[in-house]
Amino acid sequence: MNTIDLSGKVAAITGGSRGIGRGIAEALLSAGAMVTINGRNQEKGDQAIVDMAAGDRAKFIAGDVTRQSDVENFVQSTIDHFGRIDILVNNAGGSGGFAPVAEMSEEAWQEAAAWILHSAFWGTRIALRDMESRGWGRIINISSVEGKQANKENVSHYITFKHALNGFTKAVAFEYGTKGITSNAISPGAVETDLMKEAGPSAAESAGITYEQFKENYAQDAAIKRLNTVEEVAGMALFLTSDLGAGVTGAILPVDGGSAL
Ligand SMILES: NC(=O)c1ccc[n+]([C@@H]2O[C@H](COP(=O)([O-])OP(=O)(O)OC[C@H]3O[C@@H](n4cnc5c(N)ncnc54)[C@H](OP(=O)(O)O)[C@@H]3O)[C@@H](O)[C@H]2O)c1
Repeated sequence: MNTIDLSGKVAAITGGSRGIGRGIAEALLSAGAMVTINGRNQEKGDQAIVDMAAGDRAKFIAGDVTRQSDVENFVQSTIDHFGRIDILVNNAGGSGGFAPVAEMSEEAWQEAAAWILHSAFWGTRIALRDMESRGWGRIINISSVEGKQANKENVSHYITFKHALNGFTKAVAFEYGTKGITSNAISPGAVETDLMKEAGPSAAESAGITYEQFKENYAQDAAIKRLNTVEEVAGMALFLTSDLGAGVTGAILPVDGGSAL
């Protein structure tokens, strides 16, 4: 009961070559699962597979989740390669073109919609069909603390589509609750991954603060007065994929150190 054993289970994690997705991939591999990860950059993906040293239990499939065909190919290729999919982690998601609503470009808005929300729908739709055939499945959407509050400027698209992702999470939970399939979201607080290192400075600049202040603001928002870690988010994902998590569905689970209490 205390050991999480995912032997025989197959997990697909979008954006798993680094950051939070990579941490989740490593956690699921350590519990015995077979894992596919995706990302836009083949070289980074290949390196991740080498670094994770999981032999033929891990495979990288390149693709951009803002494209429907790439998401569908990722999930279908997982099924084709490992014969099934039991766990789908819709992790890749982000936004660019930071600006107040009146100046937000159509392009930035549509990109965020696809990156955060549509990608989860495209992948989940295919995965559910396969999960349903065995009456067992786990959908985990990586949301954000910004999915439950709006207290940052210039990220209305990110805030909006993370809120929407939480709604999608609940709708899937409601429809598939009797079919052995759970659907949950994890809402991390700030974690200094590559995403934060890349997007943080321009988000900070558009808010008129330095990157260090930007990080410190996040830390001060949390009861623990520090940023969260990849391992803390991965631990929650591991719990949700396990039989210990079978009774949890439709939940938006914070791993945010007590932010937005
Ligand atoms: N870091 C935080 O503070 C934080 C807080 C709350 C929520 N989150 C959420 O956590 C998730 C992961 O963020 P992270 O901080 O771990 O990011 P990260 O360090 O930048 O890693 C992102 C991963 O996703 C891949 N990726 C990015 N865009 C992609 C796309 N369009 N299609 C396919 N793969 C893509 C990247 O590989 P390539 O570059 O090769 O594509 C990489 O493997 C996101 O949904 C984010 O909104 C993060």
